[in-house]
Amino acid sequence: MSTLWQPFTQMLNADPIVIERAEGVWLYTPDGRRYLDAISSWWVNLHGHSHPVIAEAIAAQARKLEHVIFAGFVHQPGIELAQKLTELLPGHLARIFYSDNGSTAVEVALKMAIQYWHNQGANKKKIINLQGGYHGDTMGAMSTAGKTVFSKPFWDYLFLTQSIPPPFPGQEELSILAFEALAKKGDVACFIFEPLLQCAGGMRIYSKEGLDVLLGICKRYDILTIADEVATGFGRTGQLFACDSLKNSVDLMCLSKGITGGFLPLGATACSERIYRAFLSDDVSKSFLHGHSYAGNPIACSAALASLDLTIASTGKRSQIAVQQAAFCCKWQGHPKLKRCQSIGTILILEFNTETVSGYFNTLGKTLYTEALSNHLLLRPLGNTIYVLPPYCITSDQLNLIYTFLIDLLEKKL
Ligand SMILES: Cc1ncc(COP(=O)(O)O)c(C=O)c1O
Repeated sequence: MSTLWQPFTQMLNADPIVIERAEGVWLYTPDGRRYLDAISSWWVNLHGHSHPVIAEAIAAQARKLEHVIFAGFVHQPGIELAQKLTELLPGHLARIFYSDNGSTAVEVALKMAIQYWHNQGANKKKIINLQGGYHGDTMGAMSTAGKTVFSKPFWDYLFLTQSIPPPFPGQEELSILAFEALAKKGDVACFIFEPLLQCAGGMRIYSKEGLDVLLGICKRYDILTIADEVATGFGRTGQLFACDSLKNSVDLMCLSKGITGGFLPLGATACSERIYRAFLSDDVSKSFLHGHSYAGNPIACSAALASLDLTIASTGKRSQIAVQQAAFCCKWQGHPKLKRCQSIGTILILEFNTETVSGYFNTLGKTLYTEALSNHLLLRPLGNTIYVLPPYCITSDQLNLIYTFLIDLLEKKL
């Protein structure tokens, strides 16, 4: 019995597993059981648990400077991380603003986009998003995803956005027409999207070419673009950032999750110099009056710097994982139990056919979760969609352990 209230959990029947330590892909319980973390602990872990290089960077920084107010003061890890990120990020993203997590990285991007137009006295207030997206759980981040299954109790409190269908392959025209109809009114402030893959909304892959057309329309009508790379960033979809595979650049980008290799919470919002300049003024009210107590925490920045080096060195490993995931897809797509079997970069996605409504509340999710645990695997399906999103240190044999379980589901268990 504990006094906890846990995230995304129906506490009525919660029975959490205590984890005492972790190493590589494995999580260990106090009584010696182990679970393979096939979802990188909510997609944050990049290089395996308790990675010694990141652990050491954290320890060294903690001994030197644990934290200092990030307004009026700065520090080397914060400066260095911003510099490295801007060198690696696609397009013209030249400035980095730190916050605490993915939701706050999104809030910051939204507020920057809104205030960008406000500071110039422009009447551009509408926000366009893709249906079925997810941008976090704070009110602004929830609002930008539109009315979703996650936010139902709050629908009356969310601010209004214009939701258009994502450009799924074969349905690009639908998306482009809806987008253009909104864009040409001239009052759209920004367009927010998860590039290439809608993650929490069901691991739905959409067309890169279609997205590029939407971004082209944004350029034509002077609409700011916000790429939410909180989940896709740092190599998950193959390239370092999903936006690397787009022709058009974006104005703002949200980063978190893998940024510290899964060790510490940190959010970062990147923006172009053009956006940054719209806040420079003798008038203090034009500044970006937003900040979090732990913004730019030096220990988190040091973890991120260590993780970034490991991420750059992991290109080959990520390609190996991608090849293995794609090979699984080749073999199993078209299976009668599957509606979808797809991979994108290091991520494998299986959507099971179901007689009831497909989606987050489909009860198959609970069955699959429990079944996986009894096979020593941590998989956390989104309803009837199961996905494998492993740390990059996973070996071919460890991936095969997961595949054996999935094949068993397809051939026998379900
Ligand atoms: C695309 C995307 N944006 C934002 C968030 C919110 O991140 P956090 O949970 O760190 O607030 C998530 C979390 O899953 C996400 O997938």
